[in-house]
Amino acid sequence: MHLIVTKQDIGLWAASYIHRRITEFSPCSTKPFVLGLPTGATVLSMYKFLREFHQQGKLDFSHLVTFNMDEYVGLSPQDSQSYHFYMKQNLFDSVNIPTQNIHLLNGLAADLDAECNTYEQAIQAAGGIELFIGGVGRNGHLAFNEPGSSFTSRTRPVTLEPNTRQVNSRFFDNDISRVPTQALSVGIGTVLDARELLFLANGEQKAPAVARLSTGEITPQWPITALKTHPNATLLVDEEAAKLLTGEVRQRLEHAKNTQPDQPDWRIEI
Ligand code: GLP
Repeated sequence: MHLIVTKQDIGLWAASYIHRRITEFSPCSTKPFVLGLPTGATVLSMYKFLREFHQQGKLDFSHLVTFNMDEYVGLSPQDSQSYHFYMKQNLFDSVNIPTQNIHLLNGLAADLDAECNTYEQAIQAAGGIELFIGGVGRNGHLAFNEPGSSFTSRTRPVTLEPNTRQVNSRFFDNDISRVPTQALSVGIGTVLDARELLFLANGEQKAPAVARLSTGEITPQWPITALKTHPNATLLVDEEAAKLLTGEVRQRLEHAKNTQPDQPDWRIEI
């Protein structure tokens, strides 16, 4: 996998990358570009820049098909903490994506397993995901695949760890009792099926999870390490999130920084 440590705003970096990939893809394909999307605080700035690119006439969303990673069970799309609401507010209401091209898991579905199976089928029917963007939980989770999730897991109902509910309670007036105990989430296998992955982590609270990439161990106990098993995965981090990297990965990163001190970002293969 590629590890990129950047001095730039990771949101601007990611939005610019998405812009480039969509723009390069469109002229050579009549197929829509299928993009996997996350929620969370990390990617708020990425969405801000995507909205700006659209407003400036630089980015057309009309040929985009999107699949979101996850949704809480029990929250309606109108609930301000649902990921439906987040996506409307941060992207969909501001760009020209056709409503029928937007896919989000329905956390109110009567049959949650059927909802997840239908979602997997919809991804297949769209031709698979071209580029999956994601964030990283403090415990290393990808989407809502908590530690211990199989790397072959598919879209399914999941139980959230108390630690994740505690961390996410900041969006629920710091009241953990209001944070749902269950969610629907794409599986790690679903993520790994995408042709390209770009995951983002910033700030020192993500540093322990990012540091797991320097141990050499690939384990379901740290879902972030699944990125190492993908042929075209990138983790984009800021310097704070990179600060606990150790060993050979740390040495190679320092070497890259010392030899290219004026670069806006440094890339190493790990
Ligand atoms: C949440 C989401 C993840 C997200 C992660 C990080 O629980 N389910 O998809 O990547 O945690 O969130 P944040 O960016 O707010 O730190």
